[in-house]
Amino acid sequence: MAPVPISQIEVGHIDDVQELRKSIPAAIPERFIRDMAERPTLTMETLLSSTDIPVIDFSQLLKGKTDELQRELSKLAASCEEWGFFQVINHGIDLGLLESIEKAAMDFFMLPLEEKQKYAMAPGTIQGYGQAFVFSEDQKLDWCNMFALGLEPHFIRNPKLWPTKPAEFSDALEVYSREIRELCQNMLRYIAMSLGLNEDVFENMFGEAVQAVRMNYYPPCSRPDLVLGLSPHSDGSALTVLQQGRDGSVGLQILRHNTWVPVRPIPNAFVINIGDTIEVLTNGKYKSVEHRAVTHKEKDRLSIVTFYAPSYEIELGPMPEFLDENNPCKYRRYNHGEYSRHYVTSKLEGKKTLDFAKIHTHSSS
Ligand code: OGA
Ligand code: NI
Repeated sequence: MAPVPISQIEVGHIDDVQELRKSIPAAIPERFIRDMAERPTLTMETLLSSTDIPVIDFSQLLKGKTDELQRELSKLAASCEEWGFFQVINHGIDLGLLESIEKAAMDFFMLPLEEKQKYAMAPGTIQGYGQAFVFSEDQKLDWCNMFALGLEPHFIRNPKLWPTKPAEFSDALEVYSREIRELCQNMLRYIAMSLGLNEDVFENMFGEAVQAVRMNYYPPCSRPDLVLGLSPHSDGSALTVLQQGRDGSVGLQILRHNTWVPVRPIPNAFVINIGDTIEVLTNGKYKSVEHRAVTHKEKDRLSIVTFYAPSYEIELGPMPEFLDENNPCKYRRYNHGEYSRHYVTSKLEGKKTLDFAKIHTHSSS
Protein backbone atom coordinates (compact mmCIF):
# COMPACT_ATOMS: atom_id res chain seq x y z
CA MET A 1 0.00 0.00 0.00
CA ALA A 2 1.22 3.52 0.57
CA PRO A 3 5.03 3.56 0.50
CA VAL A 4 6.76 4.34 3.74
CA PRO A 5 10.25 5.75 4.29
CA ILE A 6 12.37 2.92 5.64
CA SER A 7 15.52 4.81 6.54
CA GLN A 8 15.68 5.09 10.33
CA ILE A 9 13.86 1.87 11.17
CA GLU A 10 15.89 -0.59 13.28
CA VAL A 11 13.77 -3.62 14.02
CA GLY A 12 16.50 -6.03 15.12
CA HIS A 13 16.30 -9.75 14.49
CA ILE A 14 12.80 -11.07 13.96
CA ASP A 15 12.48 -14.81 14.47
CA ASP A 16 10.28 -16.59 11.96
CA VAL A 17 7.77 -18.35 14.22
CA GLN A 18 7.31 -21.36 11.94
CA GLU A 19 11.07 -21.94 11.92
CA LEU A 20 11.26 -21.48 15.69
CA ARG A 21 8.54 -24.01 16.13
CA LYS A 22 10.42 -26.51 13.93
CA SER A 23 13.83 -26.14 15.54
CA ILE A 24 13.01 -25.61 19.23
CA PRO A 25 9.29 -26.30 19.71
CA ALA A 26 9.19 -25.13 23.32
CA ALA A 27 11.19 -21.91 22.90
CA ILE A 28 9.49 -18.54 23.36
CA PRO A 29 12.06 -15.80 22.80
CA GLU A 30 11.79 -12.80 25.11
CA ARG A 31 10.52 -10.53 22.33
CA PHE A 32 7.32 -12.59 22.08
CA ILE A 33 6.54 -12.65 25.80
CA ARG A 34 3.91 -10.06 26.59
CA ASP A 35 3.78 -7.86 29.65
CA MET A 36 1.35 -9.17 32.26
CA ALA A 37 -1.47 -6.81 31.33
CA GLU A 38 -1.39 -7.88 27.69
CA ARG A 39 -1.29 -11.63 28.23
CA PRO A 40 -4.32 -13.47 26.98
CA THR A 41 -5.21 -15.11 30.27
CA LEU A 42 -8.71 -16.47 30.12
CA THR A 43 -11.04 -14.54 32.37
CA MET A 44 -14.19 -16.08 33.80
CA GLU A 45 -16.17 -13.78 31.49
CA THR A 46 -14.44 -15.16 28.42
CA LEU A 47 -14.87 -18.74 29.59
CA LEU A 48 -18.51 -18.29 30.43
CA SER A 49 -19.36 -16.08 27.48
CA SER A 50 -22.32 -17.69 25.81
CA THR A 51 -23.01 -14.89 23.37
CA ASP A 52 -21.70 -15.30 19.88
CA ILE A 53 -21.24 -12.44 17.45
CA PRO A 54 -24.35 -11.84 15.31
CA VAL A 55 -24.99 -13.83 12.14
CA ILE A 56 -26.28 -12.12 8.99
CA ASP A 57 -27.97 -14.20 6.33
CA PHE A 58 -26.89 -12.63 3.05
CA SER A 59 -29.60 -14.46 1.08
CA GLN A 60 -32.23 -12.54 3.09
CA LEU A 61 -30.65 -9.25 2.05
CA LEU A 62 -31.02 -10.16 -1.60
CA LYS A 63 -34.78 -10.39 -1.29
CA GLY A 64 -35.59 -6.89 -2.55
CA LYS A 65 -38.25 -4.78 -0.87
CA THR A 66 -39.64 -7.37 1.50
CA ASP A 67 -40.15 -7.92 5.22
CA GLU A 68 -37.27 -10.38 5.17
CA LEU A 69 -34.95 -7.68 3.86
CA GLN A 70 -36.15 -5.21 6.50
CA ARG A 71 -35.64 -7.77 9.28
CA GLU A 72 -32.13 -8.58 8.11
CA LEU A 73 -31.29 -4.88 7.73
CA SER A 74 -32.35 -4.23 11.35
CA LYS A 75 -30.15 -7.11 12.44
CA LEU A 76 -27.30 -5.64 10.42
CA ALA A 77 -27.82 -2.22 12.00
CA ALA A 78 -27.78 -3.70 15.51
CA SER A 79 -24.66 -5.75 14.70
CA CYS A 80 -22.75 -2.72 13.41
CA GLU A 81 -23.81 -0.50 16.32
CA GLU A 82 -23.39 -2.92 19.16
CA TRP A 83 -20.71 -5.33 17.96
CA GLY A 84 -18.87 -3.87 14.97
CA PHE A 85 -18.55 -7.53 13.89
CA PHE A 86 -20.81 -10.15 12.36
CA GLN A 87 -20.55 -13.42 10.45
CA VAL A 88 -22.13 -13.68 7.02
CA ILE A 89 -23.72 -16.95 5.92
CA ASN A 90 -25.28 -17.83 2.56
CA HIS A 91 -23.04 -15.25 0.87
CA GLY A 92 -23.29 -17.03 -2.47
CA ILE A 93 -19.54 -17.24 -3.08
CA ASP A 94 -18.58 -20.61 -4.48
CA LEU A 95 -17.22 -22.84 -1.71
CA GLY A 96 -14.66 -24.25 -4.14
CA LEU A 97 -13.17 -20.77 -4.33
CA LEU A 98 -12.87 -20.58 -0.55
CA GLU A 99 -11.13 -23.93 -0.57
CA SER A 100 -8.76 -22.98 -3.38
CA ILE A 101 -7.59 -19.74 -1.74
CA GLU A 102 -7.17 -21.54 1.58
CA LYS A 103 -5.10 -24.23 -0.08
CA ALA A 104 -2.99 -21.69 -1.99
CA ALA A 105 -2.33 -19.71 1.20
CA MET A 106 -1.54 -22.79 3.26
CA ASP A 107 0.76 -24.23 0.57
CA PHE A 108 2.58 -20.89 0.47
CA PHE A 109 3.17 -20.82 4.22
CA MET A 110 4.39 -24.44 4.11
CA LEU A 111 7.15 -23.60 1.58
CA PRO A 112 10.76 -23.59 2.79
CA LEU A 113 11.77 -20.31 4.40
CA GLU A 114 14.21 -19.39 1.64
CA GLU A 115 11.45 -19.65 -0.95
CA LYS A 116 9.14 -17.40 1.08
CA GLN A 117 11.94 -14.95 1.71
CA LYS A 118 12.09 -14.18 -1.99
CA TYR A 119 8.99 -12.15 -1.19
CA ALA A 120 10.23 -10.66 2.09
CA MET A 121 8.53 -7.60 3.50
CA ALA A 122 11.05 -4.74 3.69
CA PRO A 123 11.22 -3.00 7.10
CA GLY A 124 8.60 -0.28 7.30
CA THR A 125 6.52 -1.69 4.43
CA ILE A 126 3.47 -3.88 4.69
CA GLN A 127 3.50 -5.96 1.53
CA GLY A 128 5.23 -9.33 1.29
CA TYR A 129 6.14 -12.08 3.72
CA GLY A 130 7.11 -11.39 7.32
CA GLN A 131 5.82 -9.32 10.23
CA ALA A 132 4.21 -5.98 9.51
CA PHE A 133 3.91 -3.09 11.96
CA VAL A 134 7.30 -3.65 13.62
CA PHE A 135 9.14 -0.36 14.07
CA SER A 136 11.63 -0.81 16.90
CA GLU A 137 13.86 -3.38 18.56
CA ASP A 138 12.01 -3.29 21.86
CA GLN A 139 8.54 -3.77 20.41
CA LYS A 140 6.85 -7.08 21.27
CA LEU A 141 6.36 -9.46 18.36
CA ASP A 142 3.28 -11.37 17.29
CA TRP A 143 3.24 -15.19 17.06
CA CYS A 144 2.32 -15.03 13.41
CA ASN A 145 3.66 -15.07 9.89
CA MET A 146 2.01 -12.71 7.46
CA PHE A 147 1.86 -12.50 3.73
CA ALA A 148 0.25 -9.33 2.42
CA LEU A 149 -0.42 -8.03 -1.08
CA GLY A 150 -2.03 -4.88 -2.46
CA LEU A 151 -4.65 -5.75 -5.07
CA GLU A 152 -6.63 -2.75 -6.31
CA PRO A 153 -6.21 -0.29 -7.88
CA HIS A 154 -3.44 -1.93 -9.87
CA PHE A 155 -0.85 0.77 -9.12
CA ILE A 156 -0.59 -0.50 -5.53
CA ARG A 157 0.47 -3.94 -6.77
CA ASN A 158 4.06 -5.00 -6.48
CA PRO A 159 4.31 -7.81 -9.07
CA LYS A 160 7.70 -8.90 -7.66
CA LEU A 161 5.91 -9.99 -4.50
CA TRP A 162 3.38 -12.25 -6.24
CA PRO A 163 4.67 -15.77 -5.65
CA THR A 164 5.34 -18.19 -8.49
CA LYS A 165 4.93 -21.05 -6.01
CA PRO A 166 2.46 -22.53 -5.41
CA ALA A 167 1.63 -22.30 -9.12
CA GLU A 168 -2.09 -21.74 -8.53
CA PHE A 169 -1.59 -18.90 -6.05
CA SER A 170 -1.94 -15.89 -8.35
CA ASP A 171 -4.93 -17.20 -10.28
CA ALA A 172 -6.72 -18.23 -7.10
CA LEU A 173 -6.09 -14.81 -5.57
CA GLU A 174 -7.32 -12.94 -8.67
CA VAL A 175 -10.62 -14.83 -8.78
CA TYR A 176 -11.07 -14.73 -5.01
CA SER A 177 -10.40 -11.02 -4.72
CA ARG A 178 -12.86 -10.17 -7.49
CA GLU A 179 -15.60 -12.05 -5.65
CA ILE A 180 -14.74 -10.51 -2.30
CA ARG A 181 -14.67 -7.03 -3.87
CA GLU A 182 -18.21 -7.56 -5.03
CA LEU A 183 -19.23 -8.81 -1.58
CA CYS A 184 -17.71 -5.67 -0.01
CA GLN A 185 -19.57 -3.45 -2.47
CA ASN A 186 -22.83 -5.25 -1.74
CA MET A 187 -22.31 -5.16 2.01
CA LEU A 188 -21.57 -1.44 1.89
CA ARG A 189 -24.82 -0.96 -0.01
CA TYR A 190 -26.73 -2.81 2.72
CA ILE A 191 -24.83 -0.98 5.44
CA ALA A 192 -25.87 2.32 3.83
CA MET A 193 -29.49 1.13 3.70
CA SER A 194 -29.33 0.03 7.34
CA LEU A 195 -28.32 3.61 8.18
CA GLY A 196 -31.22 5.06 6.19
CA LEU A 197 -28.83 6.44 3.56
CA ASN A 198 -28.92 6.21 -0.21
CA GLU A 199 -27.60 2.75 -1.06
CA ASP A 200 -24.87 4.05 -3.37
CA VAL A 201 -23.55 6.67 -0.99
CA PHE A 202 -20.31 4.85 -0.05
CA GLU A 203 -19.63 3.58 -3.56
CA ASN A 204 -20.00 7.14 -4.89
CA MET A 205 -17.87 8.61 -2.14
CA PHE A 206 -15.01 6.08 -2.17
CA GLY A 207 -13.79 6.60 -5.74
CA GLU A 208 -11.60 3.75 -6.95
CA ALA A 209 -11.58 1.69 -3.78
CA VAL A 210 -8.36 0.24 -2.39
CA GLN A 211 -8.30 -3.50 -1.73
CA ALA A 212 -5.54 -5.48 -0.07
CA VAL A 213 -5.24 -8.99 1.29
CA ARG A 214 -3.30 -10.24 4.31
CA MET A 215 -2.88 -13.91 4.99
CA ASN A 216 -2.02 -14.68 8.59
CA TYR A 217 -0.57 -18.02 9.66
CA TYR A 218 -0.44 -18.76 13.37
CA PRO A 219 1.62 -21.87 14.22
CA PRO A 220 0.86 -23.68 17.47
CA CYS A 221 2.62 -22.18 20.48
CA SER A 222 3.80 -24.08 23.56
CA ARG A 223 2.77 -21.15 25.79
CA PRO A 224 -0.35 -19.51 24.37
CA ASP A 225 -0.80 -17.83 27.76
CA LEU A 226 2.33 -15.71 27.24
CA VAL A 227 2.05 -14.54 23.62
CA LEU A 228 -0.40 -12.95 21.22
CA GLY A 229 -0.99 -14.13 17.66
CA LEU A 230 -1.86 -10.60 16.60
CA SER A 231 -1.72 -7.44 18.72
CA PRO A 232 -4.98 -5.66 19.57
CA HIS A 233 -6.00 -3.18 16.86
CA SER A 234 -8.87 -1.79 14.87
CA ASP A 235 -8.75 -2.02 11.08
CA GLY A 236 -7.86 1.07 9.03
CA SER A 237 -10.27 -0.03 6.29
CA ALA A 238 -13.93 0.75 5.66
CA LEU A 239 -14.82 -2.94 5.78
CA THR A 240 -12.80 -6.09 6.48
CA VAL A 241 -13.74 -9.59 5.31
CA LEU A 242 -12.05 -12.48 7.08
CA GLN A 243 -12.04 -16.10 6.06
CA GLN A 244 -10.80 -18.61 8.61
CA GLY A 245 -9.13 -21.85 7.62
CA ARG A 246 -11.04 -25.07 8.13
CA ASP A 247 -10.26 -27.07 11.28
CA GLY A 248 -8.09 -24.32 12.69
CA SER A 249 -8.20 -23.29 16.34
CA VAL A 250 -10.49 -20.56 17.67
CA GLY A 251 -8.21 -17.54 17.66
CA LEU A 252 -9.94 -14.27 16.82
CA GLN A 253 -11.22 -12.30 19.82
CA ILE A 254 -13.06 -9.01 19.92
CA LEU A 255 -13.17 -6.53 22.79
CA ARG A 256 -16.71 -6.08 24.01
CA HIS A 257 -17.61 -4.36 27.27
CA ASN A 258 -13.97 -4.71 28.30
CA THR A 259 -13.97 -8.47 27.82
CA TRP A 260 -12.32 -10.44 25.05
CA VAL A 261 -15.03 -12.45 23.30
CA PRO A 262 -13.90 -15.35 21.08
CA VAL A 263 -15.33 -15.53 17.56
CA ARG A 264 -16.36 -19.13 17.05
CA PRO A 265 -15.95 -19.98 13.38
CA ILE A 266 -19.02 -21.00 11.40
CA PRO A 267 -17.94 -23.25 8.51
CA ASN A 268 -17.94 -21.39 5.16
CA ALA A 269 -19.02 -18.09 6.73
CA PHE A 270 -17.08 -14.84 6.51
CA VAL A 271 -16.38 -12.68 9.53
CA ILE A 272 -16.98 -9.06 8.54
CA ASN A 273 -16.08 -6.03 10.61
CA ILE A 274 -16.51 -2.30 10.44
CA GLY A 275 -13.24 -0.42 9.97
CA ASP A 276 -12.14 3.06 11.02
CA THR A 277 -13.52 4.72 7.83
CA ILE A 278 -17.13 3.78 8.57
CA GLU A 279 -16.72 4.73 12.23
CA VAL A 280 -15.61 8.20 11.16
CA LEU A 281 -18.25 8.63 8.44
CA THR A 282 -21.04 7.67 10.87
CA ASN A 283 -19.52 9.79 13.65
CA GLY A 284 -19.13 6.68 15.82
CA LYS A 285 -22.64 5.24 15.32
CA TYR A 286 -21.14 2.15 13.68
CA LYS A 287 -18.01 1.03 15.50
CA SER A 288 -14.61 -0.13 14.42
CA VAL A 289 -14.11 -2.59 17.24
CA GLU A 290 -10.76 -3.58 18.71
CA HIS A 291 -9.75 -7.19 18.09
CA ARG A 292 -6.75 -9.49 18.42
CA ALA A 293 -5.73 -13.09 17.77
CA VAL A 294 -4.53 -15.64 20.30
CA THR A 295 -2.65 -18.88 19.65
CA HIS A 296 -3.26 -22.50 20.55
CA LYS A 297 -1.03 -25.13 22.15
CA GLU A 298 -1.52 -27.82 19.50
CA LYS A 299 -3.44 -26.38 16.61
CA ASP A 300 -2.36 -23.93 13.96
CA ARG A 301 -4.66 -21.40 12.33
CA LEU A 302 -4.91 -19.59 9.02
CA SER A 303 -6.88 -16.47 8.22
CA ILE A 304 -7.27 -14.71 4.89
CA VAL A 305 -8.19 -11.09 5.45
CA THR A 306 -9.40 -8.60 2.83
CA PHE A 307 -9.33 -4.88 3.54
CA TYR A 308 -11.60 -2.65 1.50
CA ALA A 309 -11.06 1.09 1.80
CA PRO A 310 -11.68 4.36 -0.04
CA SER A 311 -9.30 5.72 -2.65
CA TYR A 312 -6.26 7.47 -1.09
CA GLU A 313 -7.38 10.71 -2.73
CA ILE A 314 -10.62 11.28 -0.91
CA GLU A 315 -11.31 13.56 2.04
CA LEU A 316 -13.27 12.02 4.88
CA GLY A 317 -15.14 13.22 7.92
CA PRO A 318 -18.42 12.56 9.72
CA MET A 319 -21.44 12.85 7.41
CA PRO A 320 -23.89 15.64 8.33
CA GLU A 321 -26.66 13.03 8.76
CA PHE A 322 -24.95 11.88 11.96
CA LEU A 323 -24.46 15.27 13.56
CA ASP A 324 -26.86 17.23 15.74
CA GLU A 325 -26.85 18.91 19.14
CA ASN A 326 -26.86 15.51 20.89
CA ASN A 327 -24.19 14.12 18.60
CA PRO A 328 -21.35 16.62 18.31
CA CYS A 329 -18.73 15.98 15.65
CA LYS A 330 -16.10 13.57 17.08
CA TYR A 331 -13.68 13.43 14.15
CA ARG A 332 -12.00 16.04 11.99
CA ARG A 333 -11.86 15.90 8.21
CA TYR A 334 -8.74 14.34 6.77
CA ASN A 335 -7.31 12.85 3.61
CA HIS A 336 -7.67 9.07 3.56
CA GLY A 337 -4.22 8.55 1.98
CA GLU A 338 -2.71 10.39 4.92
CA TYR A 339 -4.67 8.22 7.32
CA SER A 340 -3.47 5.06 5.55
CA ARG A 341 0.12 6.26 5.80
CA HIS A 342 -0.34 7.00 9.47
CA TYR A 343 -1.92 3.57 10.01
CA VAL A 344 0.88 1.60 8.35
CA THR A 345 3.62 3.56 10.10
CA SER A 346 2.21 2.98 13.58
CA LYS A 347 2.41 -0.19 15.62
CA LEU A 348 -0.86 -2.02 16.25
CA GLU A 349 -2.09 -0.66 19.54
CA GLY A 350 -5.80 -0.95 20.15
CA LYS A 351 -7.75 1.96 18.73
CA LYS A 352 -4.84 4.37 19.07
CA THR A 353 -4.45 5.03 15.34
CA LEU A 354 -7.88 6.63 15.24
CA ASP A 355 -6.59 9.37 17.57
CA PHE A 356 -5.27 10.79 14.31
CA ALA A 357 -8.82 11.91 13.49
CA LYS A 358 -10.36 12.33 16.94
CA ILE A 359 -11.49 15.72 18.09
CA HIS A 360 -10.73 15.74 21.78
CA THR A 361 -13.55 17.28 23.76
CA HIS A 362 -13.96 17.21 27.52
CA SER A 363 -16.79 14.69 27.37
CA SER A 364 -14.96 12.25 25.08
CA SER A 365 -11.54 12.33 26.75
C1 OGA B 1 -6.23 -8.60 10.72
C2 OGA B 1 -6.92 -9.37 11.77
C3 OGA B 1 -7.40 -11.51 12.75
C4 OGA B 1 -7.18 -12.96 12.53
O1 OGA B 1 -5.50 -9.21 9.93
O2 OGA B 1 -6.41 -7.35 10.70
O3 OGA B 1 -7.55 -8.80 12.59
O4 OGA B 1 -7.91 -13.72 13.12
N1 OGA B 1 -6.77 -10.71 11.77
O5 OGA B 1 -6.26 -13.31 11.81
NI1 NI C 1 -7.85 -6.73 12.06
